[in-house]
Amino acid sequence: MDILALTQAHQTPFYVYDAAVLRARVGDLTSAFKGQLVSLHYAVKANDNPAIIAMAAREGIGACLVSAGEMRRALKGGMTPDLMLMNGVAKSDEDIRFALSHGIGQLNVESIPEISVIADIARDMGVIANIGVRINPEVTADTHSNIATGRRTDKFGILVEDLPEARRVILSRPELKWVALSCHIGSQVHNVENLRMGYTVMADIFKSQMDAGLDRLDLGGGFGVSYKGDNFSGPAEFAAVIAEVTRDLQAAGIRIQLEPGRYIAAEAGTLVTRVVQVKHSGETHFVMLDAGMNNLLRPALYEAYHPISLVRTSKAAPIPCAVAGPICESSDIFGRDRMLPADIARGDVVAIGYAGAYGMTMSSQYNARPHLAEIMVDGNQATLIRRAFTAEEFDDLTLQNGVRK
Ligand code: LLP
Repeated sequence: MDILALTQAHQTPFYVYDAAVLRARVGDLTSAFKGQLVSLHYAVKANDNPAIIAMAAREGIGACLVSAGEMRRALKGGMTPDLMLMNGVAKSDEDIRFALSHGIGQLNVESIPEISVIADIARDMGVIANIGVRINPEVTADTHSNIATGRRTDKFGILVEDLPEARRVILSRPELKWVALSCHIGSQVHNVENLRMGYTVMADIFKSQMDAGLDRLDLGGGFGVSYKGDNFSGPAEFAAVIAEVTRDLQAAGIRIQLEPGRYIAAEAGTLVTRVVQVKHSGETHFVMLDAGMNNLLRPALYEAYHPISLVRTSKAAPIPCAVAGPICESSDIFGRDRMLPADIARGDVVAIGYAGAYGMTMSSQYNARPHLAEIMVDGNQATLIRRAFTAEEFDDLTLQNGVRK
């Protein structure tokens, strides 16, 4: 991909996605699970651009959603509603109504009161809702604490001790069809053995509830990617463990659902940014970029590592740099002690890699900076798949009596 050529046509910063990498990662997953009774549901929160969703849809993948907004994007991306499922600890009535009116395949409930809310809405709409119960399996994922979701004190899912009550309420409501148990113990899990624990707990719980007529077990997402090039478990290893843990369930016709997000989108995305300033400050050599934590929050929020490289050749010796953004926060640092050529200078283009997942979707307009453009590159074809936007937002800020001035 010729990043410098893209910077001739588009103002930095922007996100660019490599279609070939997206297709390859989707292909890894579909081929790893070939022959198993498994359905894949792309976790759209990782990257919800309809053009990216469409690439997953073309491979027959469904969607894992958390809001009506995401469902709208998934529909736009060409996904079929019966291959969609929706999680969410606090789905709004509008989320539920939108999902049911568009024929969503499954709503995963995350609390006992939510069961009645969904049943009431389904009754009013005259539809039957397929229900999954998201379990909190009380398994601690080996990942950053902010993205572990299966500990007893986490807000997600229903504790196993509350499952009998959840079951009673669901089975008492004719508007509901209980079809699944689900879980998601955490994201960026890089050791398959850690997921095996969660899967095993879930398979056992599932067996204890099978008499209720359930036909699917949703094991969530969480497949990690190697931001630093470490040797991580890959789809083939995840697939082998899932086959082993769920062999008898699959043999009994129980479909395993998976919700990968990061694995599909992370590697394909690059945040392309330009050096605005270089500053020697005491011992620290700062490289200041035009992209900041508002564009890619992961380093500030999780101390996440993203590869950072200069997009030109340089013979200068590498020196340790603190790579920072323009935002007025000390945490607006993409990395410290990053080795970059000593001649890096104002105007240079810098690529921040593995930014395709949880990059654009978590971005904000903090410090009144624009949302970025997104570009898809497929071979030698570059397509703008979302324009940068500021102007209409600014007009909205200056509404008078609800009218743009
Ligand atoms: N299913 C559920 C119910 C989830 O909550 C998530 C992610 C996924 C699937 C997809 O997980 P994945 O395969 O992408 O690991 N912003 C954080 C990640 C938050 C993940 C939230 N839930 C980050 O940038 O690392």
